[in-house]
Amino acid sequence: MCGIVGYIGSRGAYDILIQGLKRLEYRGYDSAGVALVDTDGCLNVHKARGKVANLEQTAAAGNTNGTLGIAHTRWATHGEPNDINAHPHVSQSGDIAIVHNGTIENYAVLKKALAEHGYTFKSETDTEVLVQLIDYIHSENKCSVYDAVREALLQVEGAYAIAVVEKSNPDQLIVARKSSPLVIGVGDDETFIASDATPIVGYTDRVIYLKDDEIALIRRGEPIQLSSIHSNTPSKVDIQKLKLSLAQLEKGGYDTFMLKEIFEQPDTLRDCLRGRITDDGSQVVLSGVIDHQDIFAKAERITLVACGTSWHAALIGKRLIQDFCSLPVSVEYASEFRYSNPYLNDKDVVIAISQSGETADTLAAIQMAHDKGAFVYGICNVVGASIPRNTDSGTYIHVGPEIGVASTKAFTGQVTVLTLLAMAIGQIRGTVSRARVKEVATALRSMPEILEKTLKLAPEMQKLSRVFTYAHNFLYLGRGYNYPTALEGALKLKEISYIHAEGYPAAEMKHGPIALIDHEMPSVIIAPSDSLYDKIISNVQQVKSRGGAVVAIVSQGNKSMDTIADFSVKIPRVPECLTPIVASVPLQLLAYYIAVGKGKNVDQPRNLAKSVTVE
Ligand code: M6R
Repeated sequence: MCGIVGYIGSRGAYDILIQGLKRLEYRGYDSAGVALVDTDGCLNVHKARGKVANLEQTAAAGNTNGTLGIAHTRWATHGEPNDINAHPHVSQSGDIAIVHNGTIENYAVLKKALAEHGYTFKSETDTEVLVQLIDYIHSENKCSVYDAVREALLQVEGAYAIAVVEKSNPDQLIVARKSSPLVIGVGDDETFIASDATPIVGYTDRVIYLKDDEIALIRRGEPIQLSSIHSNTPSKVDIQKLKLSLAQLEKGGYDTFMLKEIFEQPDTLRDCLRGRITDDGSQVVLSGVIDHQDIFAKAERITLVACGTSWHAALIGKRLIQDFCSLPVSVEYASEFRYSNPYLNDKDVVIAISQSGETADTLAAIQMAHDKGAFVYGICNVVGASIPRNTDSGTYIHVGPEIGVASTKAFTGQVTVLTLLAMAIGQIRGTVSRARVKEVATALRSMPEILEKTLKLAPEMQKLSRVFTYAHNFLYLGRGYNYPTALEGALKLKEISYIHAEGYPAAEMKHGPIALIDHEMPSVIIAPSDSLYDKIISNVQQVKSRGGAVVAIVSQGNKSMDTIADFSVKIPRVPECLTPIVASVPLQLLAYYIAVGKGKNVDQPRNLAKSVTVE
């Protein structure tokens, strides 16, 4: 949440920062701001509530000169979204400006102490407290701003990625991080910094992923200096090659990123599967598992931790691991797991799933699992993010940047990797036959073509979306492998259309939610031809007999549902364990078209952010 960007070089910083903010807007769009340091000793700050476009309008009237600058797009945590709480925040002396992604947990104590030293605060933010603390240390200790930043960070509890500039020092940019991400782009005579690599693409492909507890001093025309915040000892500068193209960050002719990402799924699954199944289809090859065979062979239990959509993928992962590995498996919300004092030891494997690789709760769950001796395996999308760097091993889903806030292609990528992972662990433990691997892996390999066919449902789903303009509530029902699909379908609808939707195991409905059903409450029922199809039919009839409309997602060739449901949407037939991947596509499309029909901004739904780096 929140995106920060910075530039120091020979070009005008403003345009680079604005373009960077637009790329980072998915991280939060409550307000945006920029601070520019001019060579004539001016610090020009522009801020505006709302999106970057508002900032551009505000800044147009002011001075936007300077080849050094920092900028921020905000997802509000402390204080309402308004111009005053927008970053950058400037110190009382007017000399130092800061942008910050994260939360300073002990800000109230620090604020009180600073107030006693005569500091006053304009905003309600924790970030303003940090810049005043830097200012105070700078003037009290008569030290450099760099030393003051480092000293201030030693007093701070919480998470941060910060960028700091000083009015009287147009040749210097200081950045530091703990728990929140920060990437440095190294150009020939210029340096970029950002919360992720997207603002850097197109300028340079040489990047440094700042590590936790690192601070960087970036001086114009000089090599970048990295040090530990705690020990102040220099650390090694590890420049890596960025594998991200501009085309991946654009809409490619689609109206929205979300629609582009839904339609990309055949290709993203191709990328996700590449090289992971042997040519004859009889074996799964995941290096992250092969390299730690002993751990998986001896594991006594697996726990999956994640949040949101990734948690839904984890629920499917649980079924897959149970079916292929005969191991006890549990699924936990990372935010609950981290405070639940679970019993874990060195025979436990914890699998952390996250698209962004930056989710604060998931990172904290990983830390706790490590502390208790568990082996932690990460399933992530963003290469080089904090989760892959803080896990013992893992697998990238390789679906490319997901920019729409509602997760789509990451979900199908996660379920695909979980299917591979379950088979890979089953191979090591001898709990899955070669024939079974071959059956599922072969079907998995044809998934890109299957999704191409499934996406042809788009016009049908668009038409269907217009039927339900009356609905303020939806139920999503599924069983077995598709109970999590129902949860995911409901989440997609609620987060982008703001229609209340509940996902439920279809058979649980009779224990309460059935009371909600009437002619104004449609149900979407995921009922492919699987081992539970006959059971779910009676659940559909229970809804119909209470006057509720039913949209059933069924397998091609199914005829029996035609006479029961109001609408039956036919998806290609695949093995039962792969039905969530296929069934989720029409649900993504339905949610998308309902939201677009209501005029909602599907890429940036209200109150949400793509990367949840706060607790
Ligand atoms: O990056 P992560 O997968 O860790 O993010 C977890 C959730 O915040 C995320 O899945 C969220 O629920 C999405 N908005 C769902 O579409």
